[in-house]
Amino acid sequence: MTAHPAPRERSAASVTVPMALLAELTHRCPLACPYCSNPLELTRADEELSTAEWIGVFEQAAALGVLHLHLSGGEPASRRDLVELVAAASRLSLYSNLITSGVGLTETRVKALADAGLDHVQLSIQGTSAASADRIGGYKGGYQRKLAVAGWVAGAGLPLTVNAVCHRQNMDELEAMIALAVELGARRIEVATVQFHGWADRNRAALMPTREQAAAATVLVAAARERYKGVIVIDYVPADHFATYPKACMGGWGKVGLNVTPSGKVLPCHAAETIPSLTFESVRDMPLERIWREGAAFNAFRGTDWMQEPCRSCERRDIDFGGCRCQAMALAGDPAATDPVCVRSPLHGLLVEAAERDAAAEAGAFVYRGR
Ligand code: SF4
Ligand code: FES
Repeated sequence: MTAHPAPRERSAASVTVPMALLAELTHRCPLACPYCSNPLELTRADEELSTAEWIGVFEQAAALGVLHLHLSGGEPASRRDLVELVAAASRLSLYSNLITSGVGLTETRVKALADAGLDHVQLSIQGTSAASADRIGGYKGGYQRKLAVAGWVAGAGLPLTVNAVCHRQNMDELEAMIALAVELGARRIEVATVQFHGWADRNRAALMPTREQAAAATVLVAAARERYKGVIVIDYVPADHFATYPKACMGGWGKVGLNVTPSGKVLPCHAAETIPSLTFESVRDMPLERIWREGAAFNAFRGTDWMQEPCRSCERRDIDFGGCRCQAMALAGDPAATDPVCVRSPLHGLLVEAAERDAAAEAGAFVYRGR
């Protein structure tokens, strides 16, 4: 493990204004997706921020300059005060985006959310039939509910994005997933290849796409973008284990967005708690702006000063910021290392070997959380 500089405070000049806040309202969720990126240790319901505390967070975020508020979970519809929270976001002129599985929503509730000022809905799909989607999500009846929710969202006049996490066991349905999103009236679909954070790592061998699947998905997305031009926008996160360079995770650490966990901890990204050397402040103890500007975790990997070689002298360092810190931690054991997804990382060969090994393993049954 390579030593890296201790987290330190930066001058205010190097700190940007965050664009987005992801509010993980709760970890409670009726689904049990095997690729869940929530931590292994979930926050209990009695530890969650209260309605007033969440509204206080939204007020501080708006004052800090945040424009986009993503309401996520777990399943945010598990919060009884969801309509109240959306109304508060609307009063603060925050653009609110509900990221939901759809389970827990009713037609009346969707209408109430729209009336409260909700701006946008992101609905996840796990597959294109009840058999495949309900098996992957670990929730019987989920698929039918999602189809209904998409109709209620359209009926309430809310714009819809469909989220589809792709992996070995549903990647062959990708074309049908895009067609389904069009059928549901979505303006956008986010096709994201599975990332191995949180619970997903437990299901690595069942989820890792093969190199052939990953390549076919890229070709399919390019063709679909042509075919559906003007109908639906397709955002695509390719399989990074078979990529050449990493993605700019979070648009750069401490640069564009921040996450607040159900109990109020403020994180630079949703998986940051997997980096054991970091400590996180809570909105229960410190103002949000101070955490964003001065928090040790936020300053640990801001900018480029913390980088090691080969990133330090690389011409792409301001493009991808050395990749994902959590992936560097998971795969290299050092959060300041070059993300092993990068071909210039000395660990890249080992990463590809492990991915090929996982992809060749028997797909097998999923390990569902708590079951
Ligand atoms: Fe990005 Fe670092 Fe790879 Fe350069 S060496 S491409 S900065 S991850
Ligand atoms: Fe944490 Fe990429 S998930 S930096």
